[in-house]
Amino acid sequence: MISKAIPLPQLSGFTERNGNWYAEDVPLADLANEFGTPLYVYSRKAFTDAYQAYDRACIDANGKRRARVHYAMKANSNLAVIDCLKKLGAGFDLVSGGELARALAIGADPKSLVFAGVGKSATEIAQALDAGVKCINVESIAELHQINRVASKLQSRAPISLRVNPDVDAQTHPYISTGLKGNKFGIAYNEVLKTYREAAQLSQIDVVGIDCHIGSQITTTAPYLDALDKVLDLVEILKREGIVIHHLDLGGGLGIAYSDETPPDITEFTNTLLNRVADRGFGHLDIVLEPGRSLVGNAGVLLTKVEYLKPGAEKNFCIVDAAMTELMRPALYEAHHGIVPVKTKATKARTYDVVGPVCESGDWLGRDRSLAVEEGDVLAILSAGAYGFVMASNYNTRPKPAEIMVDGKNVYVIRKREYTQDLFASEIVLPK
Ligand code: LLP
Repeated sequence: MISKAIPLPQLSGFTERNGNWYAEDVPLADLANEFGTPLYVYSRKAFTDAYQAYDRACIDANGKRRARVHYAMKANSNLAVIDCLKKLGAGFDLVSGGELARALAIGADPKSLVFAGVGKSATEIAQALDAGVKCINVESIAELHQINRVASKLQSRAPISLRVNPDVDAQTHPYISTGLKGNKFGIAYNEVLKTYREAAQLSQIDVVGIDCHIGSQITTTAPYLDALDKVLDLVEILKREGIVIHHLDLGGGLGIAYSDETPPDITEFTNTLLNRVADRGFGHLDIVLEPGRSLVGNAGVLLTKVEYLKPGAEKNFCIVDAAMTELMRPALYEAHHGIVPVKTKATKARTYDVVGPVCESGDWLGRDRSLAVEEGDVLAILSAGAYGFVMASNYNTRPKPAEIMVDGKNVYVIRKREYTQDLFASEIVLPK
């Protein structure tokens, strides 16, 4: 079978020069040699550029800040990554006590933290209140009452937003769509006002904001504007009722190009939303943006070595040393990631399914890819900076790979490769 050429995304931190792929100024082949494979490699420049594009758009022509970026660290929560983003001025969007601990470990200002998630436990709520986060985004009436009880026990007050489920179709993969009636996320649109009225009556609750997130890998602005208008309609009604909203959290979800998708440019996207907020007379509200993927997705690659080439009657397989354990997105969402040899070879190209060693037919990384490769070559799986390492698992007792950050010519190990022995070090065999 002849595979059709699938375009590669435009990347800022990774480039091909004379047949060799680089992370900034460092050849990827050198990194694979020195640190082994599978290996995650990030470009500091790539996520710095993406962050700065958002941040520039957050400041108006008169230098007034209109919005703030709270990086959704679920996309990539390595301490080095979040620390670099903190140094650029980012706040964070968290979804677990674990992510809260990471934010505190890098000394993030608690007031730069918003805490979301559909099933926060009482312990996690207590941790967030203890830390003094800016806001807890509430996803159900039951959770609202739980937060009130926890705050009461701690004799503290809980700043909250309600996460509105606006019933808007984000037109993305069903597993990463969150703003439809049938999704588990947020409070049903027609129950939001009632829930705010209830929240305003609760002894330990301070209503501070309103929140909405409709999904991920969204490649058009239209569903955001629909959701935004619906949320602003609610803010107007709340204002008339004397329930004051200080901040509006527009969530994350802006898509990236994995191949030839054309998501709106970050600056344009941010401007469009912020202008709509201002045009509707809400320019005084603090705006929170929670991007994840669009900051880090194209700032990382996964390097993997070709173990075996296995020609077949129906398919040729290129069996590599990375798997669904390192990058789950293809197995879970049939997601496409560009795959390139880090050094161009004169070998004849063939069409392969690129697969890992894990015992599952769903363990594939790319299908029908035209690749000129030999055994022992190194491939780079592109656009792996978001939802790559963070979704890695130890299935088949596979140690997680190392993570490297490149900054110009400098190379930093930001997570050591796991040792096999560590994977079962906390397991205990029976005494007899
Ligand atoms: N805010 C909230 C409340 C979220 O649930 C998410 C992502 C974000 C912000 C950031 O969305 P982003 O800008 O990264 O699209 N594992 C999937 C993506 C799951 C997204 C979950 N929520 C994937 O690999 O495509």
